[in-house]
Amino acid sequence: MAAKLMRAVQYDRYGGGAAALQHVEVPVPSPKKDELLLKVEAASLNPADWKIQEGIMRPLVPWKFPCIPGTCVAGEVAEVGSGVTTFKAGDKVIAMLKFWNGGALAQFVVSGVKLTAHRPPEVSATEGAGMPIASLTALLGLRSFGVKFDGTDNPANILVTAASGGVGHYAVQLAKLAGLHVTATCGARNIELVKSLGADEVLDYRTQEGKSLTSPSGHKYDIVINCAHGMPWSVLEPNLSDNGKVADVSPTAGDALTFAVTKVTFSKKQRFPIMLFPSEKARDLEFLIGLAKEKKLKTVIDSIFPLAKAEDAFARIVEGHATGKIIVEM
Ligand SMILES: NC(=O)c1ccc[n+]([C@@H]2O[C@H](COP(=O)([O-])OP(=O)(O)OC[C@H]3O[C@@H](n4cnc5c(N)ncnc54)[C@H](OP(=O)(O)O)[C@@H]3O)[C@@H](O)[C@H]2O)c1
Repeated sequence: MAAKLMRAVQYDRYGGGAAALQHVEVPVPSPKKDELLLKVEAASLNPADWKIQEGIMRPLVPWKFPCIPGTCVAGEVAEVGSGVTTFKAGDKVIAMLKFWNGGALAQFVVSGVKLTAHRPPEVSATEGAGMPIASLTALLGLRSFGVKFDGTDNPANILVTAASGGVGHYAVQLAKLAGLHVTATCGARNIELVKSLGADEVLDYRTQEGKSLTSPSGHKYDIVINCAHGMPWSVLEPNLSDNGKVADVSPTAGDALTFAVTKVTFSKKQRFPIMLFPSEKARDLEFLIGLAKEKKLKTVIDSIFPLAKAEDAFARIVEGHATGKIIVEM
């Protein structure tokens, strides 16, 4: 019997950006024992999608060519693997796919049970698709400082850089939910938005104050979630409190030297990288979806494209100027 086909967007070599994406018809994948076949309703893009295409993790990622990009989806369970007991056909879900496989820009995709969570009706597919990588990274950043969200967190001063982006806009909201005092950086056009997400103080990153990261009210930062690329230690360090620490979401090769130096000199002020790995994240995703259901965590949508225009969505993520999340609807 001929395999059932689906529409998808893929690339077959490193590089080339949006222009290298091809619209194809490929066989619908089959779920293994602990996997689900999802009918994708919406997917979101992350900077990692174009960086992987550029070859930042070559030769390991993508695992193979051709590669269907994208790791964040919301959809409906179409079929379950033989070992799956927690999901059934028809369930609405949100899933983080394995970044070495991708697969999101397609009508169907296979997801692992451990990286898939139920989606309540209060969370739309568009909103849900935005969440996996970006909101989980924001949560990971805060948890790396011991933030618990149980009402016992100290009201520390936090700086979130690139607070208008996918990770940053979730980080601002989560930090506020934990009761922290939030200073944020973004471009002038997004200042009111970032304030509306809960930031107490906002700096325009293109001004002198924004470049120096100096808090308008003189706060020193106990915690920094640095989502901006290439932020020198010489700028960060003077703004930190005595034990202030920086978690780098987007570290550069040069930052590695600061990680090492602050570590070996037992400096109280430290800088360290964070990396979201696809271990068992469903529970964290459920926590975040619960907040979205209660309207405590909002997904800001930058733009929505149909699958037929997925290359435009890809071009938008390459530009690096999204406000919130870029969505592709199937
Ligand atoms: N470690 C991990 O596991 C992990 C996970 C997810 C993402 N990341 C990385 O984290 C970084 C952020 O990801 P993202 O999804 O949030 O990116 P994004 O959505 O593409 O971020 C774009 C936003 O950042 C703002 N921005 C850029 N440079 C800025 C700066 N210097 N100061 C203030 N705002 C700035 C832009 O504002 P304007 O348009 O006004 O310039 C835009 O609104 C990326 O490098 C990504 O690869 C890492």
